[in-house]
Amino acid sequence: MPIPESLTAKPIYILNGPNLNLLGVREPDIYGRETLPALEMRCRTRAKELGFSIVFKQSNIEGELVNWIQEAREAGAGIIINAAAYTHTSVAIHDALKAADLPTVEVHLSNLYTREEFRHQSFISPLARGVICGFGGLGYEFALLALRQILDSRKQD
Ligand code: DQA
Repeated sequence: MPIPESLTAKPIYILNGPNLNLLGVREPDIYGRETLPALEMRCRTRAKELGFSIVFKQSNIEGELVNWIQEAREAGAGIIINAAAYTHTSVAIHDALKAADLPTVEVHLSNLYTREEFRHQSFISPLARGVICGFGGLGYEFALLALRQILDSRKQD
């Protein structure tokens, strides 16, 4: 059944943190060979199928990520965030997500729990509806699917 346009008026913000601009060349054994532009295309294709528009961003700067979360608070329907290393350190991103109060899915390409202990702590997880890690770029597609379900179930309430 086609998804009514009214459900999808606001975009999903897909936010990527530091060093993810180097995807494809940085530690490919861990992060794979898919580049960030290729990942963005993959998200755009899947989002379109699900009836979403997306805003896809990457920054190495913590405050820029905070600004985009604040923008999403006004203009977005939901957030998918791979805060990369800031996942494990950023109270500022935690606070911004709390203020945004939007359905949020935390994504990581790698399986954090098979890696160093410092990656087992996340400042994002307590504010996320769910966490997906270890499936590479496919995790972003899972996150879009999850948000589709969350937003559709809200419309039916
Ligand atoms: C990452 C995992 C983080 O621990 C790391 O700092 C990253 C990428 C991931 O997608 O697997 O830069 O978020």
